[in-house]
Amino acid sequence: MKLRGPSFCLFLGFILLSFALSSMAKFMVEKNSLSVTSPEKIKGNYDSAIGNFGIPQYGGSMTGNVVFPKDNQRGCKEFDEYGISFKSKPGALPTIVLLDRGHCFFALKVWNAQKAGASAVLLADDRKEKLITMDTPKEDGSNAKYIENITIPSALIEKRFGEKLKSAINGGDMVNINLDWREAVPHPDDRVEYELWTNSNDECGVKCDMLMRFVKDFKSSAQVLEKGGYTQFTPHYITWYCPHAFTSSKQCKSQCINHGRYCAPDPEKDFSSGYDGKDVVIENLRQLCVFKVANETKKPSVWWDYVTDFQIRCPMKEKKYNKECADAVINSLGLDLKKIEKCMGDPNADSENPLLKEEQNAQVGKGARGDVTILPTLVVNNRQYRGKLEKGSVLKAICSGFEETTEPAVCLSSDVETNECLDNNGGCWQDKAANITACKDTFRGRVCKCPLIDGVQFKGDGYKTCEASGSGRCKINNGGCWHEARNGHAFTACLDNGKVKCQCPPGFKGDGVKSCEDIDECKEKKACQCPECSCKNTWGSYNCSCSRDLLYIKDHDTCISKTASPQGKSAWAAFWVLLVGLVMAAGGAYLVYNYRIRSYMDSEIRAIMAQYIPLDSQEGVVNQVNEERA
Ligand SMILES: *[C@@H]1O[C@H](CO)[C@@H](O)[C@H](O)[C@H]1NC(C)=O
Ligand SMILES: *[C@@H]1O[C@H](CO)[C@@H](O)[C@H](O)[C@H]1NC(C)=O
Ligand SMILES: *[C@@H]1O[C@H](CO)[C@@H](O)[C@H](O)[C@H]1NC(C)=O
Ligand SMILES: *[C@@H]1O[C@H](CO)[C@@H](O)[C@H](O)[C@H]1NC(C)=O
Repeated sequence: MKLRGPSFCLFLGFILLSFALSSMAKFMVEKNSLSVTSPEKIKGNYDSAIGNFGIPQYGGSMTGNVVFPKDNQRGCKEFDEYGISFKSKPGALPTIVLLDRGHCFFALKVWNAQKAGASAVLLADDRKEKLITMDTPKEDGSNAKYIENITIPSALIEKRFGEKLKSAINGGDMVNINLDWREAVPHPDDRVEYELWTNSNDECGVKCDMLMRFVKDFKSSAQVLEKGGYTQFTPHYITWYCPHAFTSSKQCKSQCINHGRYCAPDPEKDFSSGYDGKDVVIENLRQLCVFKVANETKKPSVWWDYVTDFQIRCPMKEKKYNKECADAVINSLGLDLKKIEKCMGDPNADSENPLLKEEQNAQVGKGARGDVTILPTLVVNNRQYRGKLEKGSVLKAICSGFEETTEPAVCLSSDVETNECLDNNGGCWQDKAANITACKDTFRGRVCKCPLIDGVQFKGDGYKTCEASGSGRCKINNGGCWHEARNGHAFTACLDNGKVKCQCPPGFKGDGVKSCEDIDECKEKKACQCPECSCKNTWGSYNCSCSRDLLYIKDHDTCISKTASPQGKSAWAAFWVLLVGLVMAAGGAYLVYNYRIRSYMDSEIRAIMAQYIPLDSQEGVVNQVNEERA
């Protein structure tokens, strides 16, 4: 059987269509949360679906004033023609423009609104149905150019909700809504898993150009994230299969490998010239294998190098999109060519390729992720990314997938997010004097959490109080206690352990936190009060000296004579008598002990020796033995 080009296209279209239909149930709309904050009567949360173009503010939110234009309500024409502008005055809320669905592409409406100064666009559905994802129009060259320049976010809302908004606006109410993308991506832990459904085909128009630009731009960020262990990236490639009845047709043979199992559309849509779909499938398979081999050697990020180098060195335009060129790239990246070839297997074999089979299975949606039908598709934490595939917004989407406070530094740079801690310290506790704060900037906002500084954990609610705790706490800002040094003497009120945190040291009185005052021991008659004593207060202590040649004994707080007194002499005599007595007693005891030891040992030795040497008392026994021998 021979199929002609157009009929085959129709036919491939049918495959795609049936694929799409069979997966209708799994088509997910990524919703951002939309809430009306005024007027009161329509306050609440509503569903909305993020458009697949423009830049949704992943991780961010936006509050704006909703405007429904008097003319050009579908937004298919430029607002300039009607003298309408959506530019908000300085200090006013940004303008969110409400437009009706219909008559022209979603993207065109959003583009027109953006040009007139809108900050975001809500598109009201014109029919009662479940929300769909607004996709970019089919690439038709020049007309689609503006899509690249759409930077504002857009969302589709249900018809009923659109009518509510319109009636409130027409009734003269000020309608404010809040668009919140902070929960658009799940953020369960400190690692983000993301996958890019891509294609090695570099000649498919606007979408291929966008994809290639994205891969080139995003490479460095992707590699930093991957090497730091912050992300786990997996590339994916879509393939289709040729229905069984047609596997031996010329078309299937030129578009497919492995006997019609894995196919890609012809890059030029012309079967007779240039590259075939088959070439694309083979290169896609090679890129999958590059990733697999690189991942096995724990260097998954080499995939980004390969893909960007391949784009540059082996473009279809220069007729270098082939194995020879690919192998050169593989060699220059130091990858194991043999392993990659082994992984690719034989494209002519009439059998499954395990890797491509896995890819086909992965295309089917699971969990919260729908089927992958649009190329390119980015999936972050198993949620489909919506919006323009562009470095900045993709980074935002990935950054919003980290559990709060675990995001890498790249997510906290000022061109990706604002540092909420700079403004009023984020409302968190801080100790300005010690330059310590509980405010921790995160991608989605900020958290107030008592810090860990030099191994010392601060404890408290993070908003009003934080206190250093545990051993070592005195190292930091002296544990918040009083301390002072004067003339080389330093005193601190900080206690490292125990329940009391700040306590004035001996010689001081006070609360221990703000102040400790020296106690004047002399004035308060606390020490140095004997008749011969003369007291002089010092900082933190006192100095006591005795009159004449007496010596001050601090422990007893009294003065004694330096030379021995008569009393002292008799004491010495008594001491000597006692000592001599003791020595004598000890000597006697020693003698007695010695004697006893000796007599004990004597008897012991005797008993032992008796077993070996004939002693007087045992002569008889020995003789007996001798007699027996004789
Ligand atoms: C889009 O932006 C680029 C530069 O930013 C500009 O050159 C181009 O003309 C713009 N395209 C449209 C349709 O406005
Ligand atoms: C890449 O390697 C990691 C472990 O090193 C593994 O967990 C992951 O599943 C691998 N990815 C693929 C697609 O094989
Ligand atoms: C406070 O500490 C931060 C870093 O922790 C530092 O960047 C800043 O310069 C410090 N400010 C002062 C006044 O010491
Ligand atoms: C106490 O007084 C003596 C004698 O006046 C002096 O030598 C000593 O340095 C003083 N000590 C202090 C702590 O002032």
